[in-house]
Amino acid sequence: MKRSIVIAGNWKMHKTNSEALQLANQIRMKTTDIQKTRMIICPPFTALSVVYEVIKDSAIHLGAQNMFWEKEGAYTGEISAGMLKSTGADYVIIGHSERRQYFGETDETVNKKVKAALENGLKPIICVGETLEQREENITIQVVGKQIRGAFADIAEEDMQNIIVAYEPIWAIGTGKTATPEQAEEVHAEIRKMVADLFNDTVAESLIIQYGGSVKPENAQSLLSQQDIDGALVGGACLKADSFSSIIHIAEELNK
Ligand code: 13P
Repeated sequence: MKRSIVIAGNWKMHKTNSEALQLANQIRMKTTDIQKTRMIICPPFTALSVVYEVIKDSAIHLGAQNMFWEKEGAYTGEISAGMLKSTGADYVIIGHSERRQYFGETDETVNKKVKAALENGLKPIICVGETLEQREENITIQVVGKQIRGAFADIAEEDMQNIIVAYEPIWAIGTGKTATPEQAEEVHAEIRKMVADLFNDTVAESLIIQYGGSVKPENAQSLLSQQDIDGALVGGACLKADSFSSIIHIAEELNK
C-alpha cells in the first residue's frame, strides 16, 4: 500500500503579516489543481489567522510551529493548543530540532506537547533526527529510536492516525546538504519498524513519515519515490510560492 503524500511548509521565523498574506495567496493560486496531495502551511503564530482567511476555502491546511502543553495560565509568552485551534490550525509541528537546540525541548516536553495537541484536536507533526556527530558515530538509529519512544510514550493506538513523523537529519537542515534518498529511506524504514514494535504493523503501515532537510524541486522526486518516504517538511524552499508549489506538483504526479 502506498500512503498518499503529505507536503508541509515550515515558514520558521519568516514573514510579516502582509508578506504572509501575499505568500499564502500565491500558494493557493498555484495549487488549485491539486487533488491527492495533502498540503499544510505553517506560518509563524502572528500570521496564523491572516493566513487562515486566505486558505480556508481551499485544500490547504493550516499548521503552527510550536505550542505549550498547559491549557491556560500564567505562562507569559506561551500559546496553548486551544488557542491554535481557534485560529483555524489543524496541525502543529512539535519538537523541531531548532526548538530542541535553542529552546531546551526534550523528549519529555515533546511527549507532553503531543498529548496536549491530540486532546485539543490538533494533529502533531513530530520531528526527530540526528546530528552530524551522531551520524558519524553510527548511532543514528539509537538516537532516533530514543526520540520516537519518548514522543510516543503513553500515546493511544487510536491517536496514531492523527500523528505525522518528520525525519529531519540536523546536518541537512538549512545547509543545502540533503540526505541521499537511500540514507533517508534507511532511517524511515527503521522508524516504521520501531512504530510496529511499539504498536503493530497496521499502525506502522499507515503512519505518514515525512523527510525534511534541504528538500527542493530538484531532489523532491527521488526522495518522495522511496518506499517509506511519505512526504516532505520543507523549510527554505517553502518561502517562495514557485518552489513550494513545484514540490507539491511533483508529489501529486507520484500520488497518481
Ligand atoms: P530546510 O528545508 O531549509 O533545510 O529546513 C528543513 C526544516 O527544518 C523543515 O522543518
